[in-house]
Amino acid sequence: MKLLRILATLVVATAVTTMVADENHEIIEKVMEEGLKGDDSPMAQVLAGKASAEDTAALAKLVKTLAGTKAPVGDQAAYEKKVTELIAAMDAVAGGDKGEAAIGRLKTAQNCKACHTDHRPKK
Ligand code: HEC
Repeated sequence: MKLLRILATLVVATAVTTMVADENHEIIEKVMEEGLKGDDSPMAQVLAGKASAEDTAALAKLVKTLAGTKAPVGDQAAYEKKVTELIAAMDAVAGGDKGEAAIGRLKTAQNCKACHTDHRPKK
């Protein structure tokens, strides 16, 4: 009986862990695919000063969904720092600051390679 209960607990714990990991991946994937990927991505448009206020606000909202996600690999604290900076830099621009400093800050914060090198799982 006791063993069965332990086994059942293990199965549930594994299922929950897998679900959380899937959800985490889905959130990050959505932001990457819909916000950051490609030469015409919303992020590229914002950086080029070509995005409308609505599109900029929509991207800021999308990027915010990264808050609370877990780094698939690498140091969680370092990942959170990058995510927090990305959200803050995006918010500043969405808030109407299109100055060189604000755009430059966002450019650094959204640097694909800087984040992927440490936190994107290798295939
Ligand atoms: C703050 C961190 C961070 C930044 C900045 C970042 N990425 Fe990512 N990206 C990730 C992580 C983490 C993953 C892996 C997600 C996973 O496997 O769960 C990822 C995965 C991806 C993927 C694969 C998505 C999939 O199908 O799983 C693409 C495409 C991508 N990133 C594009 C970009 C581009 C383009 C940029 C720059 C404009 C960028 N990313 C900037 C963190 C970041």
